[in-house]
Amino acid sequence: MVDQAKVLRQLAKNTKKGVLHNTLNLPPCRIVAITSGKGGVGKTNLTVNLALALKDYGKRVLIFDADWGLANVDVVMGVIPPLTLTHVVRGEKSFKDIIVYEHGIGLIAGSSGVEEFLNLPEWQLENFLRELQQLEGMGDFIFIDTGAGISHQVLGFVLAATDIILVTTPEPSAITDAYALLKVIASKNREARVRLVVNRALNPGEARQVLKKLKLVTKEFLSMELLDLGYIVEDPRISRAVKAQEPFLYVYPRSPASLCLQKVADRLLLASGDDLPQHRDNLKGFFQRMLSLFH
Ligand SMILES: Nc1ncnc2c1ncn2[C@@H]1O[C@H](COP(=O)(O)OP(=O)(O)OP(=O)(O)O)[C@@H](O)[C@H]1O
Ligand SMILES: [Mg+2]
Repeated sequence: MVDQAKVLRQLAKNTKKGVLHNTLNLPPCRIVAITSGKGGVGKTNLTVNLALALKDYGKRVLIFDADWGLANVDVVMGVIPPLTLTHVVRGEKSFKDIIVYEHGIGLIAGSSGVEEFLNLPEWQLENFLRELQQLEGMGDFIFIDTGAGISHQVLGFVLAATDIILVTTPEPSAITDAYALLKVIASKNREARVRLVVNRALNPGEARQVLKKLKLVTKEFLSMELLDLGYIVEDPRISRAVKAQEPFLYVYPRSPASLCLQKVADRLLLASGDDLPQHRDNLKGFFQRMLSLFH
């Protein structure tokens, strides 16, 4: 653990000198964590379809499936990457070798979680962090499908990301779990940009109610601003598309869910204009957040 801390600190220091960060003068990419308190609320479907919507706007999007092992993004996209992050960490492959493209979106299969990541020997951690720089030049957006809950792994990705998309359904248990996650996020970083998506709303009014409720308690009890990224209606076509292993945005482009999704994508793009320090210098931010979380 101590060795890893040293490596991370050294790498973070290097980024300050500009050694790691943006050596090719590339525009910074945004690292967006898609997360939820409760499982099964629609994170993976949102991740994949939002990625496609942004790709259709000409953005380069990579999806990092951090929930690998529970068969997620690969199932929704209908593609199974043969190589995973483990190969990168071991120094056998680089990111460009393991990325599989489907529908124009790059998919990176995760492997070890943050817990395992912390226990990696120093040379593997160095490999990983060095390789990570490559990614910045390969995508305008990196989406991380984090898996649900308040595990160390989920929090690691969530707190390191430049943007957080929190997904909930209108069910009370999902809202309660979303709030529990918000509480932990706020305890680590009150400035975190958390954008809420209400999925499976029966109508716009229901989505508005959920947003209002969560926004209010987040402000009142956590002194944190919860941002609105929109909602997606309950739509049986999503389940049909999942069964067919096709993204719903492509199979049912005019469906109510796809129209909602499109609005979410528009809002996320608009939010790209946010002039926050971490959006201009996000790799450094990413390291610094990891450091502050793990020590
Ligand atoms: N808007 C929606 N309308 C109807 N059904 C939906 C909607 N969104 C998701 N679903 C259903 O919920 C299922 C679970 O969605 P998804 O796999 O995206 O959730 P998840 O949050 O990634 O789950 P996990 O926490 O297990 O990773 C989908 O297979 C689909 O059948
Ligand atoms: Mg999932």
